Amino acid sequence: MAAIRLRTEGDIEACLRVLRTVYDTSGYPVEGVEDPALFFGKDEASWVAEVDNTIVGHVSLAKASPDNVAVVLWQQQHPEDIHTSVLGRLFVHPNNRKGGTASKLINTAVEEARRRGRRPVMFALVKDQDAIRLYRRLGWQRFGNTVYKWGDGNEMAAECFASPVP
Ligand SMILES: CC(C)(COP(=O)(O)OP(=O)(O)OC[C@H]1O[C@@H](n2cnc3c(N)ncnc32)[C@H](O)[C@@H]1OP(=O)(O)O)[C@@H](O)C(=O)NCCC(=O)NCCS
Repeated sequence: MAAIRLRTEGDIEACLRVLRTVYDTSGYPVEGVEDPALFFGKDEASWVAEVDNTIVGHVSLAKASPDNVAVVLWQQQHPEDIHTSVLGRLFVHPNNRKGGTASKLINTAVEEARRRGRRPVMFALVKDQDAIRLYRRLGWQRFGNTVYKWGDGNEMAAECFASPVP
């Protein structure tokens, strides 16, 4: 069973190694892994999952920003609600999946968001059905469809989710 702890600066290299494998096998993140500073850089809090002292998974919590398509849609639907956070940067090494690691990572981030008085929202690309199934199983509520755009005119369909209210 994976253990979850806060990520430190010294973990980035190991996280990047796992992310590269995830990209090669699952195509996540669609932007690629050429800019680790961007991927691991600007979040409020991040956690890693470890098995036998080896990092196998990762999740982050970030401030709500208009760059995020789930935040934009949530704010259109709930203009009065400014108490959101963004859950993201979620991945688990392919060899360590289906054992509850992502569920533990998500629950850790959700607990921290609630401690800060924030409700996490996120989006998942429709192609990432493992993730969508997982969020639904954890009780996250889908609040709409959107389109995620990146790079030079690329776009993909995405679904937006909000964490269940405690
Ligand atoms: C999505 C992702 C993070 C899920 O990671 P994970 O660690 O396998 O997730 P969990 O183990 O918590 O849950 C996955 C499945 O295992 C099952 N499971 C969890 N614990 C289990 C256990 N102890 N025994 C058997 N099955 C278990 C869950 O029920 C779930 O089943 P489902 O696929 O039918 O819904 C992983 O597939 C991944 O990294 N994908 C690529 C990146 C990605 O898509 N990121 C998300 C972008 S939004």
